[in-house]
Amino acid sequence: MRNLKTVLSLLLTTLSLQANIEEGKDVYLQNCVMCHSTTMKGGMGRDFNLISYNRHKEDVVKYIRAPSSMFREFGYSSNAMPTLPLSEEEIKDVSEYIDSLQTFKVWMKTKK
Ligand code: HEC
Repeated sequence: MRNLKTVLSLLLTTLSLQANIEEGKDVYLQNCVMCHSTTMKGGMGRDFNLISYNRHKEDVVKYIRAPSSMFREFGYSSNAMPTLPLSEEEIKDVSEYIDSLQTFKVWMKTKK
C-alpha cells in the first residue's frame, strides 16, 4: 500500500512536471523565440540548449525576472533583453522547459 502511494505520487509529480514543460514551450514560442533558438540556429540571445547546459534552473528564473539587474552577474557587458510581462507561473514553466532541453542533464537528475 505504501509503495503504491509512492508510485502514484511519483507519477503525479512526473505528469505535472511534463505539463509545466508543455506550458513552458508555449511561453517560449510567444515570448522568446524571436531572440533565442532551441536548434542552435543562433539569434540575439544564446540558444536555450546552451543556457540549459550552463545554468541552474533557479538562476534562469532570476534572469527572466530581472535581466537589467542580473546581466553583470551573468557575465554580460550590456543588457538587451527586456523584462517581459510574465507571471511567476509562466517564468517557472519556461525555465522548466529550458531545463528539459538537455537530455543528458535530465538523465543525470534520475541518478541522484
Ligand atoms: C529582444 C530579444 C530577447 C527576448 C525577447 C528574450 N531574450 Fe533572453 N536574452 C536576450 C539577450 C540579448 C541576452 C543576453 C544578455 C542580455 O542582453 O540581457 C539574453 C539572455 C537571456 C538569459 C541569460 C543567458 C545566460 O547567459 O545564461 C536567459 C536565461 C534568457 N535570456 C531567457 C529568456 C527567456 C526565457 C525569454 C522569453 C520568456 C527571453 N529570454 C526573451 C535577448 C532576448
